[in-house]
Amino acid sequence: MTDSRESLADFVASLPKAELHMHIEGSLEPDMMFALAKRNGVELPFASVEQVRAAYRFSGLQDFLDIYYQGADVLRTEEDFRDLAVAYFDRAAADGVRHAEIFFDPQTHTARGVPFSVAVEGLLAGIAHARQRHGMTSSLIMCFLRHLDEDSASRTLAEAEPWLDRIIGVGLDSSEVGHPPGKFTRVFSRAGQMGLMRVAHAGEEGPPDYVREALDLLQVDRIDHGNRAMEDPLLVARLAREAMTLTVCPLSNLKLRIVEDVARHPIPHMLQQGLRATINSDDPAYFGGYINDNYLAVAPLLGRDRLAQVARNSFLGAFLDEAALDEHLRRLDSFLEATP
Ligand code: ADE
Ligand code: ZN
Repeated sequence: MTDSRESLADFVASLPKAELHMHIEGSLEPDMMFALAKRNGVELPFASVEQVRAAYRFSGLQDFLDIYYQGADVLRTEEDFRDLAVAYFDRAAADGVRHAEIFFDPQTHTARGVPFSVAVEGLLAGIAHARQRHGMTSSLIMCFLRHLDEDSASRTLAEAEPWLDRIIGVGLDSSEVGHPPGKFTRVFSRAGQMGLMRVAHAGEEGPPDYVREALDLLQVDRIDHGNRAMEDPLLVARLAREAMTLTVCPLSNLKLRIVEDVARHPIPHMLQQGLRATINSDDPAYFGGYINDNYLAVAPLLGRDRLAQVARNSFLGAFLDEAALDEHLRRLDSFLEATP
């Protein structure tokens, strides 16, 4: 590999890209958490921003989720959700993100008495800001919490109906092991009938069979994470054959101990096996970095050409219409041609 770290950093900084796996609640930075707690009169179990940061050491997914759901409690009003989304889009635009498909967890909010309308309208205001300020396109994916039952997911889908023209798809997140994708077969089928795209976290901590269930039972259009699919050569071959996009999150994998060392992250092998892997930030405020930090964490393993391939994959895997996809790919090609 001949590219120096500095030249890779410059390259990644201006590489046009899409972000496809980012939980907006996971972009809540500790200082915003404190500001919103104050604004809303919410008591936090932390005395300072430093104490919050010190608490961000996780033994695994559940350990993280417990803190993440607690943090989300400061989000109460439409303005809070808008401010959160604006902060994320401003960061993402500075990282060269041209299109973002962001997750939100409606049940995390409705369970606390914050109406679905408050969360979604606030986030839509953030999306309008991203378009006006940065010319960035973005859309919403509502995730069902898999530790809850399918009826709760179905009620959430019904609640979303007035906004379905502004929500591109449904996802599945939260505690994976013990909550296989098959638990949500009917609600995903209904979402598909309603014209929504479908994605699911699978193979983050759960076994390769969960990835298979997401494909066969949920009929997903993308797999979020998918790391453990690498344990099963037949599944890898299928994912490659079906050009299934994987939304990979290197720093999340490190912080949640899915990988021991980012220098041994499987993404080079994923690409080598023909998988359409992308790079994303997952929960940037909790895992120590936004999208470019994630690109840079694995940049020495990939080099320019494969980083460019990852950026191309991010547009190919996005839920864009043909004209928008062509335009993004054309701009990416122009950037690559103009960058020695
Ligand atoms: N919710 C937010 N981040 C998540 C992750 N990495 N896995 C599962 N659920 C999540
Ligand atoms: Zn995630």
